[in-house]
Amino acid sequence: MKQTCDIPVWDIPTRLFHWLLVLLVAGAWLSYKFGDVTMTWHKWNGYAVLTLLLFRLLWGFVGSSTARFGDFIKGPFTVLRYLHGGARAPSLGHNPAGGWSVLAMLGVLIVQAGAGLFTTDDILVSGPLNFLVSSDTVDFLSSIHRLGYYVLLGLVALHLAALAFHRLAHGENLVRAMISGNKCPAHVPPGTAAVLRPLWLAALCLAIAAFTVWFGISVWRW
Ligand code: HEM
Ligand code: HEM
Repeated sequence: MKQTCDIPVWDIPTRLFHWLLVLLVAGAWLSYKFGDVTMTWHKWNGYAVLTLLLFRLLWGFVGSSTARFGDFIKGPFTVLRYLHGGARAPSLGHNPAGGWSVLAMLGVLIVQAGAGLFTTDDILVSGPLNFLVSSDTVDFLSSIHRLGYYVLLGLVALHLAALAFHRLAHGENLVRAMISGNKCPAHVPPGTAAVLRPLWLAALCLAIAAFTVWFGISVWRW
């Protein structure tokens, strides 16, 4: 008998965050490659990434149960036990190994987008906070910004490989869950479901994130 996959796992804000982030990471490369010399598109794209990341940090503390850092950041022994068991144990949200890869991707993205604020191409374009730091620091952060993208691509490749592994080895379609928000009962611990938080709270977090980015960029000019 075909089972219905109706266990709520990912809330709407987390799903929107994820798929917008994917579009904007692609947008960062496209805007660098095909944007005009002023890199205006690349910069706005970067501010949008920063806003999303800040939103996700806030949502990691006040959001739905599966979105919270406390839910998916596990100690090394739990991660090792999970991997030793063939990464098979069902988990409602991110599994113990996946939790760390999520944290790594978010961390690299924050460094990447943060470094962008100070970077320069040494010719025409600079990040908005470039004038605040010494030229040595600008050189360093510009190198980080150039290299960071490749580190991010490496982590994303690992991310996609892990998703393919779960699909092929355990028949678990994690991508469908990140689209629909639901998992099948066979792939979550019995009797569990995410505790979802209201959308107005997500909207408030987004507004705080957008204001913080705008303020952080503008305040130095006043
Ligand atoms: C996650 C967000 C971002 C990603 C993935 C990203 C990615 C990139 C990439 C791949 C390059 C080309 C580096 C190269 O020369 O090989 C670049 C250059 C650049 N980015 Fe970003 N960027 C992001 C955010 C930002 C932000 C927020 C700013 C500033 C507002 C910014 C400003 C610049 C500038 C000025 C350059 C030219 C520097 C150069 O040519 O070395 N970026 N970025
Ligand atoms: C630029 C590329 C990508 C980045 C930076 C990225 C980043 C992330 C992050 C940060 C999360 C954690 C979500 C959260 O808790 O907020 C995540 C989860 C997830 N991503 Fe991606 N992702 C990328 C591409 C993709 C693609 C192309 C797919 C689908 C083919 C995908 C499928 C998923 C799924 C299914 C999850 C949930 C994993 C789980 O069940 O634990 N991602 N991704």
